[in-house]
Amino acid sequence: MLYIGVDLGTSAVKLLLMDEKGEIRKIVSKEYPLYFPHPGWSEQNPEDWFLKTVEGIKELTAECEKSKVAGISFGGQMHGLVALDGEDRVIRPAILWNDGRTGEETDYLNEVIGKDKLSEHTANIAFAGFTAPKILWMKKHEPENFAKIRKIMLPKDFLAYKLSGVFCTDVSDASGMLLLDVKNRCWSKEMLDICGISEKQLPKLYESFQAVGTLRPEIAEELGLSGQVKVIAGAGDNAAAAVGTGTVGEGMCNISLGTSGTVFISSKSFGVDENNALHSFAHADGNYHLMGCMLSAASCNKWWNEDILKTKDFAAEQAQITRLGENNVFYLPYLMGERSPHNNPDARAMFIGMSMDTTREDMTQAVLEGVAFALRDSLEVAKSLGIRIERTKICGGGAKSPLWKKMIANIMNLKVDVIESEEGPALGGAMLAAVGCGEYPDVETIAEKLVKVVDTVEPEDELVAKYEEKYQKFKKIYPAVKELY
Ligand code: XUL
Repeated sequence: MLYIGVDLGTSAVKLLLMDEKGEIRKIVSKEYPLYFPHPGWSEQNPEDWFLKTVEGIKELTAECEKSKVAGISFGGQMHGLVALDGEDRVIRPAILWNDGRTGEETDYLNEVIGKDKLSEHTANIAFAGFTAPKILWMKKHEPENFAKIRKIMLPKDFLAYKLSGVFCTDVSDASGMLLLDVKNRCWSKEMLDICGISEKQLPKLYESFQAVGTLRPEIAEELGLSGQVKVIAGAGDNAAAAVGTGTVGEGMCNISLGTSGTVFISSKSFGVDENNALHSFAHADGNYHLMGCMLSAASCNKWWNEDILKTKDFAAEQAQITRLGENNVFYLPYLMGERSPHNNPDARAMFIGMSMDTTREDMTQAVLEGVAFALRDSLEVAKSLGIRIERTKICGGGAKSPLWKKMIANIMNLKVDVIESEEGPALGGAMLAAVGCGEYPDVETIAEKLVKVVDTVEPEDELVAKYEEKYQKFKKIYPAVKELY
């Protein structure tokens, strides 16, 4: 049988067709616009997501035996607020995960309601990109829109709703709304009261690998697929990526180098970082995970190369970099503010330490290193909780760069296991679809059978020591400059 995984990303939707043995038959990608209507705001049009997904599915399945397509599932950009009215119309553009407009609402939640209460209700505190502060923002700034809301959903759930007609979400993605009691995997009554919404406005909760329904007949017809194709709930993109890299069960780690950057640690038991610097979320395998998320990771490299250096040849820029561990230029990667661990939507990026002999290569190197140092910030929080991580998987666009992987291995002092495919969320989505259709009994089994490590980047003692010294300097920069933001 064939399974479709849909990675609903921030710059594009990526669709992947996988067979029951895990062989990737085809990948299709379709871009859509991202809007920044004010500095620090970030929005997209949910209808664009759906149009491009439909286009993508048609292209993806154009040459395959269509009757073999059994299921479709998702890994979706998390936290985005999608609001529909009584006629199922999108009320306003979706407010995305990297939108920083909710500083006031986030402070209200953390300081007036209180971090202890939030953590008790949800296992997390408020971050500007989370969904609950956005609901409060809408209530205050767009009361006429707020009054129209009948359905609140996350980005990938909009796709599931349009495809199946079922108003659903999954527990991994719902964890990032700050409305879910993560430990008990149910909506938090207290949080709904705080946000002034009712459970009727929220989707039904599923585990990521559960089928929610089948394709609506008119959609099945448009796609040329059977009406029996199952729609499986899917997961937030990081949990889906973790499935795609085999980061399931106890104590495994995955680093995602996409638009955002995450350090994802799977766990069989529920746990909370007492300072809530790491998110404590439900996992797509039925368990839990801790996660640090930086808002601009591969997007820093994209910005630096395309917008500043005016080149798309990232590999050529990186080919000139040879002096690892010796760069005196530092870069803070906070182009869209920062989530973990600083929780500051007003933070901004900066270069520091240039001299007359600083070269273009040093600056490019600083960008790549700055992202790796910021990922290490999250790893340090995990270490402070007593979590011992020796190795990690890696995925996302940035993971295509051998140089960046080497920096990560040495800056974080981790063995970096490279897997056959870096298509984390799309592959994870297809794997969840296969489990939801009964092809495999559970997520751990499919991960064990299908995910293959093809190489390992080992940290080198001398380079680890050099980078340790650099990291100690990097760590001091944000506290020294944060008053300027
Ligand atoms: C995770 C997060 C990002 C988005 C990116 O908390 O905000 O990784 O999911 O798509």
